[in-house]
Amino acid sequence: MERPNWAPGDVDLERPSIARVYDYWLGGAHNFAVDRAVAERTLEAMPDLRGVVLHHRAFLRRVVRHLLRRGVRQFLDLGSGIPTVGNVHEIAQHADPGARVVYVDVDPVAVAHSRSLLSGNGRVGVLQADVRDFGGVLGSPEVSELLDFDEPVAVLMIALLHFVSDEEDPRGVVAGYRDHLAPGSFLAVSHAGYDGDEESAASREARKIYDDDVTPMTLRGRAELTRLFDGFSLVEPGVVRVPAWRPESPDDVPEPDGRFPGFAALGRKAQR
Ligand SMILES: C[S@@+](CC[C@H](N)C(=O)[O-])C[C@H]1O[C@@H](n2cnc3c(N)ncnc32)[C@H](O)[C@@H]1O
Repeated sequence: MERPNWAPGDVDLERPSIARVYDYWLGGAHNFAVDRAVAERTLEAMPDLRGVVLHHRAFLRRVVRHLLRRGVRQFLDLGSGIPTVGNVHEIAQHADPGARVVYVDVDPVAVAHSRSLLSGNGRVGVLQADVRDFGGVLGSPEVSELLDFDEPVAVLMIALLHFVSDEEDPRGVVAGYRDHLAPGSFLAVSHAGYDGDEESAASREARKIYDDDVTPMTLRGRAELTRLFDGFSLVEPGVVRVPAWRPESPDDVPEPDGRFPGFAALGRKAQR
């Protein structure tokens, strides 16, 4: 396959990536044939999957608008992905041109595309890093020069933590960021998962394709997601199915069977 001009030279064109497969599901153009092939196979197994990822993106937009209404002007978007419509800085800087955003992703295409889109925007930073290395992320010039941790910051982990296995200690990763935040800061999470044995055969089949060909995922239910918010008080309505988090339109309403395969929540760091 010929290397597109937007693909950094060190990217393996034959290996699917989380960010590019997601970009394809979202209708973006920054993906390779190998990403499209696996994305199509998962969609065949689970036709609702595209709707699922669109609900996660819609949650991102709703929660950012909610945070802006609560006065937050600083955002640390972890696992930010390949920019598509309705990115955090577009929403935030539309509300307040002084809002500051740092995007962090490990994927070279996500980072390269973010950088090219954002060059010239002095209030947005882009960092290529593994979010599990919270010390490295928080100590980076991109983050420390743009975000003031004496003031509230919203940390966004949208459709991210299911890529952090239990052995990799997702609670420890979240706590690493939490401990750096001023009281009154926020954590927003959306996460793939089910409660109990709800998972459908279609979802199991799609997940097997994804686990084998892209990367293994760890699904978590409501109780596990709640535990990630240790040290935060949950904002109403708490941990709920992704489309049910403060829905704004009929499109945000979950499917009638109520088994949307993922949960979302927003927490506010308690006062000391
Ligand atoms: C499913 S996408 C979600 C993208 C974006 N948050 C959104 O809601 O559109 C997950 C993103 O997390 C990134 N990611 C996964 N594990 C990561 C890690 N350990 N460090 C940094 N980024 C990671 C992937 O590269 C991908 O871009």
